[in-house]
Amino acid sequence: MTAIEGVPVVEAGGARIPLLGLGTWELRGATCARVVEQALRLGYRHIDTAQMYNNERDVGEGLRASGVKRGDVFVTTKIWPSHFTPRDLARSARERVAQLRLSEVDLLLLHWPNPQVPLAETLGALEKAKHDGLTRHIGISNFTVALIDEALKIAKEPLVCDQFECHPFLDQSKLIAACRRHGMAVVAYSPIARGAARNNGVLKRIGAAHKKTATQVCLRFLVQQDIVVIPRTSKVERLSENAAIFDFTLSRDEMDEIARLGSPDSRVVDWAYSGRMNWD
Ligand SMILES: NC(=O)c1ccc[n+]([C@@H]2O[C@H](COP(=O)([O-])OP(=O)(O)OC[C@H]3O[C@@H](n4cnc5c(N)ncnc54)[C@H](OP(=O)(O)O)[C@@H]3O)[C@@H](O)[C@H]2O)c1
Repeated sequence: MTAIEGVPVVEAGGARIPLLGLGTWELRGATCARVVEQALRLGYRHIDTAQMYNNERDVGEGLRASGVKRGDVFVTTKIWPSHFTPRDLARSARERVAQLRLSEVDLLLLHWPNPQVPLAETLGALEKAKHDGLTRHIGISNFTVALIDEALKIAKEPLVCDQFECHPFLDQSKLIAACRRHGMAVVAYSPIARGAARNNGVLKRIGAAHKKTATQVCLRFLVQQDIVVIPRTSKVERLSENAAIFDFTLSRDEMDEIARLGSPDSRVVDWAYSGRMNWD
């Protein structure tokens, strides 16, 4: 018996993605392994990592220590854009599963777009990684509406999600609509705005009415729209708080009031980062 029973899933492109996952950016070493293990023991069934987080070994350790069957956990990792030429991507995909000590991952994402490598080449290589059995599904992250359209014209395999920054303070309605139009799942990163949700007055007031914290209301707002959330914490005690979001419902008025907190320029992750980046 786990603390969280039966986390709902979102279905997209043949994938069944648990609506709640654990983010692992900046978690490393023993802390990372311990948090992953505890999350799985509590009932989390989805873990998000990336080549760039330099923690796939630790995530793999946590997975094995938890005793949860491999087939019951959805594992996502991402390839960093400096590895987007077909040869680099092939090597990098093999490295990802080796680091995690798995035979395959569930979802392999392109972490950010890289305009320096033709998208057709990169997507072809990503699809090959799927055909080679290194991942069950493929997808993208930080792709704009225009880039999603471009990717879908090229792709021969379903791109099951776009993972991007999404929380009540940032208006992402256009990207969300684009994903829905194409049958892709939305995976929200920084879903609690890197902790800022906790101090928001509107979320606190609505939370008090439901005996929930502002953070829980923030996450509920997203999952109630079938948006997958991957909050990260380094504190085991917060794992339960972030997971207790499936036993209450926000009213239409509450959803509308929270939606009004959104503006176009409230990113917590620096988007300019991708444009400035020398991927090598
Ligand atoms: N695809 C991409 O480009 C991309 C970019 C960014 C993130 N991501 C993924 O998305 C995940 C989540 O995003 P994120 O890590 O940026 O931010 P986040 O999950 O929105 O917030 C994490 C922060 O919130 C704090 N926190 C967690 N639970 C809390 C609670 N119940 N009450 C108060 N504070 C709480 C954590 O501190 P404590 O550790 O002290 O609890 C941490 O500082 C990442 O870990 C990563 O897996 C992907």
